[in-house]
Amino acid sequence: MNILVTGGAGFIGSHVCVKLLELGYKIIVIDNLSNSLISTLYNISKIVNIDLNIDEDIDAYFTFIKADIRDKVPLEKIFSMHQINAVIHFAGLKSVKESVENPEDYYSNNVDGSINLFNVMKRFNCKTIIFSSSATVYGDSKEIPIKESSELFPNNPYGQSKKIVEDFLKNLFILDETWRIAILRYFNPIGAHKSCLIGEIQVNVPNNLIPYIMKVASGELKILNIFGNDYDTHDGTGVRDYIHVTDLSYGHIKSLKALMEKPQVIIVNLGTGVGYSVLDVVRTFEKVTKQKIIYKISGRRDGDVAVSYADPTLAKEILDWEATYNLEDMCHDSWKFKLKN
Ligand code: NAD
Ligand code: WQD
Repeated sequence: MNILVTGGAGFIGSHVCVKLLELGYKIIVIDNLSNSLISTLYNISKIVNIDLNIDEDIDAYFTFIKADIRDKVPLEKIFSMHQINAVIHFAGLKSVKESVENPEDYYSNNVDGSINLFNVMKRFNCKTIIFSSSATVYGDSKEIPIKESSELFPNNPYGQSKKIVEDFLKNLFILDETWRIAILRYFNPIGAHKSCLIGEIQVNVPNNLIPYIMKVASGELKILNIFGNDYDTHDGTGVRDYIHVTDLSYGHIKSLKALMEKPQVIIVNLGTGVGYSVLDVVRTFEKVTKQKIIYKISGRRDGDVAVSYADPTLAKEILDWEATYNLEDMCHDSWKFKLKN
């Protein structure tokens, strides 16, 4: 079975590529490397012991094509040269802050890019797609834990771009019920592969909590600003559902299997169902890594919600998937990757 993986050089995509190759799928990765490095693909190759092929004219188990999903030409070439059975679509931009500063880029990469991809898929009669959505689509959910049926109120261009793509996919199915679509709403992915060869690469000053904590622990940044301690939570700091990237990668394999069974639209939360506060994360990180995290309490960050964690029941019911790693494992693996890179 041939799978096209868009954004496969990125944080989550690289972990899913490892799983797919380990299970014997043939994969083609398309990525413009705007937020990733080619070395990640060579590291995937090392983990699975399968050569990386960068010649698009050769048929191999693991091929990489550097291209942008907004560009029809390379996509059409891939589909005309290979019998693609399914697409796992990670490519896109993912920073809430950046999306507020520069919304055009988010609509262009995330919406135009996705629609371009789906149109090419349709033309080549490939109708199986797994899409990376995000808990951001819920916005400030009134319902906690958050169910898939909870209302969608994204409050930033990044979240809006994900909702638009979700709606587009749902419409594809309304028009043609032979599509097989999985929309996976990830909560807060962290951790890294046990080999320490792949993980989240952070070039700039991070916006997300765990990458920021790691830069404080390593001495690259002086102090962690905790954005608010006056939320209605057990210690006043924001609560989130952190999920190990390895657990997340299994969720994609389970989704692929479910889609092989019948045409359908699957919409599921991928989270642990457990919420941890910022201070819980800081303390767990300190305990596991024996590193001191210097922090101060700052004002709330615009757009942040107090509490966000998943009700993961549906994923268990329809995919037979559930998270297995706890917060200590996640802190441990993130830090191990950071130390080696
Ligand atoms: P990432 O930035 O590490 O990976 C995305 C990859 O897509 C990168 O390798 C980047 O170079 C590539 N890319 C971006 N725009 C492209 C384009 N136009 N054409 C081709 N390649 C392009 O991000 P990630 O954390 O692995 O996230 C993967 C997906 O999951 C994204 O769609 C993201 O929105 C979604 N998601 C991520 C998180 C998270 O916190 N990491 C949470 C929820 C959803
Ligand atoms: C977590 C908690 C912050 C940094 C974002 C996206 C979401 C998804 C994951 C892509 C919050 C607090 C953070 C810091 C802090 N990505 N914090 N100091 O905002 O839940 O989710 O990333 O889809 O869509 O919105 O994650 O890691 O930024 O924040 O106190 O320096 O940590 O206020 O309570 P968030 P995060």
